[in-house]
Amino acid sequence: MTSLAGKTVLLIIGGGIAAYKAHELVRLLKTRGARVRIILTRAAEEFVTPLSLSSLSGEKVYTALFSLTDEVEMGHIQLSRAADLLVVAPATADLMAKMANGLADDLASTTLLATDKRILAAPAMNVRMWRHPATQRNVETLKRDGVVLVGPADGEMACGEFGPGRMAEPGEILDHIITMLQPRAQPLAGRKVVITAGPTREPIDPVRYISNHSSGKQGYAIARAAVELGAETVLISGPVSLAIPPGVQMMPVETAQDMLTACKGEMPADIAIFTAAVADWRVAGVAVDKLKKSAGKPPALSLAENPDILATIARGSPRPEIVVGFAAETERVTENAMEKLKKKGCDLILANDVSAGSGVFGGDRNKVHLISASGIENWPEMDKDEVGRRLMERLAHMLAPQQRAAE
Ligand code: CTP
Repeated sequence: MTSLAGKTVLLIIGGGIAAYKAHELVRLLKTRGARVRIILTRAAEEFVTPLSLSSLSGEKVYTALFSLTDEVEMGHIQLSRAADLLVVAPATADLMAKMANGLADDLASTTLLATDKRILAAPAMNVRMWRHPATQRNVETLKRDGVVLVGPADGEMACGEFGPGRMAEPGEILDHIITMLQPRAQPLAGRKVVITAGPTREPIDPVRYISNHSSGKQGYAIARAAVELGAETVLISGPVSLAIPPGVQMMPVETAQDMLTACKGEMPADIAIFTAAVADWRVAGVAVDKLKKSAGKPPALSLAENPDILATIARGSPRPEIVVGFAAETERVTENAMEKLKKKGCDLILANDVSAGSGVFGGDRNKVHLISASGIENWPEMDKDEVGRRLMERLAHMLAPQQRAAE
């Protein structure tokens, strides 16, 4: 029997007839040694009582009566952060709509919005409510946001109708909780991943430079995902204002030349991912002293082409097993990216639209197309973190068969 000792589950109970099953869930969690803290929505209090849940959990139960103006006002952030996992059971149509849209008008929804922890939701509602396009839209949004759903199951419902809408049984919810609380599999343990990120800075003179608007966010998100999957992760980054992700080996660089030297120095690697927005040109003959206005006319800058770091590594030796490029395009996005895949000799290209208004440069979300020799996959718009996770999981998969063959 897997122990959950040392783990804290924050159980948020929505107002539905299935709320009575929360008692059994609390009991099961306590049997495994978990600490269970509970929030009841106002509607949930019509179905279950704080007293019964507090006797089962051995903890104070938080209710909507503790409104956002009393002591819990300060506590809701702490409540969500102190948990290892948030479980919403039953997740009613209303509560899911609030979660999907980021509403925060009571303790339960505020806590769900404030959390930085994973969320498991067990939907329960009338079959027509479940099938309604609005609910299905919310389900899609929640999945995209990383919320894990368990159920609903098919069956006869309290309202007498039959179909999907019954909350998953407490035992099944417990199984999901146990899985989500297990340390994640580390398929990239023993593998080395090198990632370039951010802009490069090409000096004009000791105080001026040419650069671009790259925020580095996508590359840093990929680095975080690589660490999560157990890879030895080297992040070769141009100047950005982002925190260094825990667990990465950071190599700060400025120019494209520096970035190339750093990349070569990190070979051999199993995977190399090039997210950096490398300046295509550098200034030929950087001025040793600051250029003065007094010289009369503006200086003429003569530019030289920078080395293509991705192409150099993809065609170099030893070549990483998988080489991934990005293609920032403002027009003919997939066509241009397909050409880049061939021209640069990489295995995968993630193409994204960086045209004005796309919000990709500097934003937190990204919409990418994954391009390989075998075709194009259009990924839905998602968080840059989620793009990072999906990409690294895909790459781990691509490496896995070779690993097995070698064993
Ligand atoms: N790249 C690189 N070194 C360069 C230029 C680009 O490693 N000197 C990499 C980027 O990190 C990215 C991919 O090549 O993974 C494509 O970058 P992009 O700027 O879209 O392409 P360019 O080759 O610069 O082509 P263009 O600007 O003409 O579209």
